[in-house]
Amino acid sequence: MDKHVIVGGKVLNGEVKISGAKNSALPILVACLLSEEPISIANIPHLQDVTTIMELLGRMGSHLTIKDHMIIEVDTSKVTDCVAPYELVRTMRASILVLGPLLARFNQAKVALPGGCAIGSRPVDLHVQGMCRLGAEIEMREGYIYASAPQGLRGAEIYFEKVTVTGTENLMMAAALARGTTILNNAALEPEVVDLANFLNSMGARIEGAGTSRIEIEGVEKLSGCHYSVIPDRIETATYLVAGAITGGRVTVKNTDPRLLPSVLEKLEATGASLDIKPRSITLDMRGNRPKAVDIDTRPFPGFPTDLQAQFMALNTIAEGTAVICEHIFENRFMHAEELRRMGADIRVQGNQAVCHGVNHLTGAPVRATDLRASASLVLAGLVAHGETIVDRIYHIDRGYECIEEKLSQLGADIHRIVQKKTSSK
Ligand code: UD1
Repeated sequence: MDKHVIVGGKVLNGEVKISGAKNSALPILVACLLSEEPISIANIPHLQDVTTIMELLGRMGSHLTIKDHMIIEVDTSKVTDCVAPYELVRTMRASILVLGPLLARFNQAKVALPGGCAIGSRPVDLHVQGMCRLGAEIEMREGYIYASAPQGLRGAEIYFEKVTVTGTENLMMAAALARGTTILNNAALEPEVVDLANFLNSMGARIEGAGTSRIEIEGVEKLSGCHYSVIPDRIETATYLVAGAITGGRVTVKNTDPRLLPSVLEKLEATGASLDIKPRSITLDMRGNRPKAVDIDTRPFPGFPTDLQAQFMALNTIAEGTAVICEHIFENRFMHAEELRRMGADIRVQGNQAVCHGVNHLTGAPVRATDLRASASLVLAGLVAHGETIVDRIYHIDRGYECIEEKLSQLGADIHRIVQKKTSSK
């Protein structure tokens, strides 16, 4: 398994370009299943999760072509196989997103149940209940969701008991081709939901209210081809800003959109960083100062994103003062705390709360990534730790960060990858 080797202590300084949002690219690629016409999508990030979704679409019979600058052309006119097999779903839970489009266009789907996950149990019951409300018949057996809608889907009013991002997206895609009107209440407000709605509307869907808790979708007969560009990745944006803050440096993130990060930019300012915010870039300047501790309370958008909790915990480990971090979205999302403690962090976890007393310095150590954002927090800690940090299992980070070692090196970090050769079983 590949590892990152980081020698800490470099003050980061420079500019970095932000890639397209992973959590937009995945549903948008999947939504191509809703149209028989070719679609081209720009600003797709080059990530393992994108490769997985492309493989999934390919196995169903889609034709995908990667053009220059990661523009992907998708042609799903020859799709015949409406199955998402377990071996792909277990590597990427977002594969559940094919359920809605397959049911809407082909009236059937067989999708593996994702099962447990490092950060929590993460059920998909709200996706399934929603599809039933749209008239799907669903049976769970042998680890699979078997769904069919012999008469086609029909619009309905749906209330989500819990705010769910991919649940909202799945239902929005299904409803786009259902007969009649669907109302989604208590829908997720995340920018990636809005991006998907804009994409669907550019295919000819009739969706209003995305970005609010009530989304209205008037089903249409057919969706057409289009060209679309994915929004910038807000989690990647903030991760590089934290890299600047944790090392006392000055980092400019380009090709991004500050409007995607309301609560996060406030927290960065609270660390003592000065921010220069432009329409497509943000410069964070820490002026060599140690950051101040900031409390974190993860919430659905526009609250503080759970996907940045681990990175801000890394920042708090060396900050001045004490921070209380509350995780409200996933029940087991503190696995990185134990690894950070191995580097000398003072963190006490109790239930969904972690209390982090800032220490004067961390010490490099071998650590193990447990999930995507946890791995980012370990890399951030490695940037500021004394000595060498080796982060193992970085396949997690490759799921969500494009060329992370190149981008960090460009900012002056001392980081490289050790590629572990696969050993033959003979
Ligand atoms: C998405 C993001 C992920 C982010 C998360 C929360 C993608 C591909 N992934 O994940 O990066 O961390 O939003 O912002 O966009 N829940 C249920 N039943 C369901 C669905 C969800 O109980 O059917 C619960 C979950 O266990 C969790 C909460 O709802 O406690 C929110 O999860 P959800 O918003 O669905 O996360 P994802 O869409 O899987």
